[in-house]
Amino acid sequence: MTSDTFPLRRIDHVRFFVGNARQSAYFYRNAFGFDVVAYAGLETRSPREAGYVLRQGKITFVLASPLGPEHPDNRRLVLHGDGVQDIALEVDDVTHAYETATQRGAVGVTPPTRLEDEYGVYEYATIAAYGDTTHTFVNRDRYHGIFAPGYKPIDPDRYSPSTFRPVGLQSIDHIVANVEEGKMDEWVRFYEQVLGFRQLIHFDDKDISTEYSALMSKVMQDGTGRIKFPINEPAKGRRRSQIEEFLQFYHGPGVQHIALTTGNIIETVRAMRQNDVSFLRVPRSYYEMLPDRVGPIAESIHDLAELGILVDRDDEGYLLQIFTKPVEDRPTLFFEVIQRRGSRSFGKGNFKALFEAIEREQARRGTL
Ligand code: FE2
Repeated sequence: MTSDTFPLRRIDHVRFFVGNARQSAYFYRNAFGFDVVAYAGLETRSPREAGYVLRQGKITFVLASPLGPEHPDNRRLVLHGDGVQDIALEVDDVTHAYETATQRGAVGVTPPTRLEDEYGVYEYATIAAYGDTTHTFVNRDRYHGIFAPGYKPIDPDRYSPSTFRPVGLQSIDHIVANVEEGKMDEWVRFYEQVLGFRQLIHFDDKDISTEYSALMSKVMQDGTGRIKFPINEPAKGRRRSQIEEFLQFYHGPGVQHIALTTGNIIETVRAMRQNDVSFLRVPRSYYEMLPDRVGPIAESIHDLAELGILVDRDDEGYLLQIFTKPVEDRPTLFFEVIQRRGSRSFGKGNFKALFEAIEREQARRGTL
């Protein structure tokens, strides 16, 4: 066993840069069941941007929007549309993490910075990752406020408690990057050399292909195994792959999907469907073949078929998963809901059915 050369505690939060954070917060609250816990904006003397901190289980999302044309990140909105700007990682020592990362070749974006208010000291530093995506190292051991300096607890009059209905999402399972053809190994090396990650699994174009398109993927994980970042690149196929479609509409590499865990996927997906979240559908024949393919499972196949939930089994157990359609008008970021029952893998047995479902959506968009 090699030692962890870059200790990370956990994913602290995911920051999305969006056109209208107020309206995005409404979507993630009312459709995905997040509680809105903190706010920054003009009322909190944040003159440059509005921010909403959303929480469900151990998941924290930050939605940020510029308040004027001088915001340094504005170009992102025209280029990428709404999307993930930063995956923040909690560390013991921000300065040490930043210095180690930059000595190992990472490009620094923001050097170690201390923010202070009446609730203590919040420290962070940011490095560049794929495309315009960044990683921020965060330490909040000496900070006791709601999120970070500048943020205040949400005004209790702002949202009615009667409309807050969590759907049972618990934690972030993995966050997937799409990068350009030929660039996957470059980013694999970045996570290995800079952040001390190891390659967990490799899927090649024979594992992930349909009649029309293919992709390759390597799953990177940190020293603790708690943080998993799969990296996809397109492979040659007869038509345009979903990865190429993403790269075209996002105008470069970026976060393709975030997988969120639940302890009861049937209840979670039923609630999200009632909230009008759109999920991909596979053909009915998928469920006719399911008992032979995965053997006995605790869930009713009738419920899984009704909700469109997929199942896969490996040596260690099985998993249940489902994918939303993109959550913005561009075919870019989407979400996965996953329940693990022993399996630590990624649903390889579902790849073909899933990618065919995505291709049916691409055909509707005229982008296949
Ligand atoms: Fe996934």
